[in-house]
Amino acid sequence: MSIDAIRTVAVLGAGTMGNGIAHVFARAGYQVILRDVEQGRLDHAVDTIRKNLDREVKKGKLPESEKPAVLTRLKPVTDVAAIAAADFAVEAVPEKLEIKRAVLGEADKLLRPEVLLASNTSSISMTALAALTSRPDRFVGMHFMNPVPVMALVEVIRALQTSDRAFDLTMQLAKKLGKTPVAVNDAPGFVSNRVLMPLINEAAYCVMENVATPEAVDAVMKLGMNHPMGPLELADFIGLDVCVDILQVLHEGLGDPKYRACPLLKKYVAAGWLGRKSSRGFYHYP
Ligand SMILES: NC(=O)c1ccc[n+]([C@@H]2O[C@H](COP(=O)([O-])OP(=O)(O)OC[C@H]3O[C@@H](n4cnc5c(N)ncnc54)[C@H](O)[C@@H]3O)[C@@H](O)[C@H]2O)c1
Repeated sequence: MSIDAIRTVAVLGAGTMGNGIAHVFARAGYQVILRDVEQGRLDHAVDTIRKNLDREVKKGKLPESEKPAVLTRLKPVTDVAAIAAADFAVEAVPEKLEIKRAVLGEADKLLRPEVLLASNTSSISMTALAALTSRPDRFVGMHFMNPVPVMALVEVIRALQTSDRAFDLTMQLAKKLGKTPVAVNDAPGFVSNRVLMPLINEAAYCVMENVATPEAVDAVMKLGMNHPMGPLELADFIGLDVCVDILQVLHEGLGDPKYRACPLLKKYVAAGWLGRKSSRGFYHYP
């Protein structure tokens, strides 16, 4: 399949990442079939996309006149059969292997054989996911960053089985979305989390060992290293439970004790202090 033959894209899962992915495809001119199991999630996703488009209009990134067309390109569906019309599909369902297995199996049966299937997983092996499908050579990782409409990067992950053709097409597609694709081979945490999570973990150790307060750790990294957000602010944004899960994937996958999750991170998670989403993490969010 050529890049120009891709006109309709299926996005599986309409949560945090799915609505952002649907947004950028629709904004780039693609017809988007946004599929979720819950109608409520679809309604919320469309609402979020509308608000985010408004923000882009206000910032001068999108002409006001284009907004209605972007919204009409979105087709929210609960009926999975509707995805059969897609020329490319990307899944953004919860980070649980059993859910991924079910969703990929379903998509694999419905999509035409030449259609590429992509995953936005943060931590599951792309090679293992590819092996669950009948199209492992047409399976690829498309790791978007949150918030998707804002962040420039897409890590394009090559599973062991991914063909050069599928990989190149996905790189081109990410460029069509106005993103900067970066080629990465499949390995635990890819590059993004392999490098970021040890930084967050070390910042948590600094707090646990009373080297400095969270504010001080973040100030050092922002003012001294030019990071736009401190690592602990960022950890709260990502979710401390998600950070611990990804550290566990790195620890198990690479077998190196340097990836062991900081006990303070685990303690916060045990307390339900998960970051922004629970109103408390390293910081308070009243
Ligand atoms: N949140 C992030 O910052 C982030 C960043 C990069 C990658 N990711 C990855 O993106 C994926 C999605 O994460 P999220 O944060 O958007 O999750 P989320 O929980 O916000 O959204 C998941 C959505 O999938 C839906 N869903 C569940 N089962 C489904 C099914 N069978 N078919 C279709 N939809 C189904 C849920 O109803 C929900 O709306 C995960 O693999 C995660 O690792 C997340």
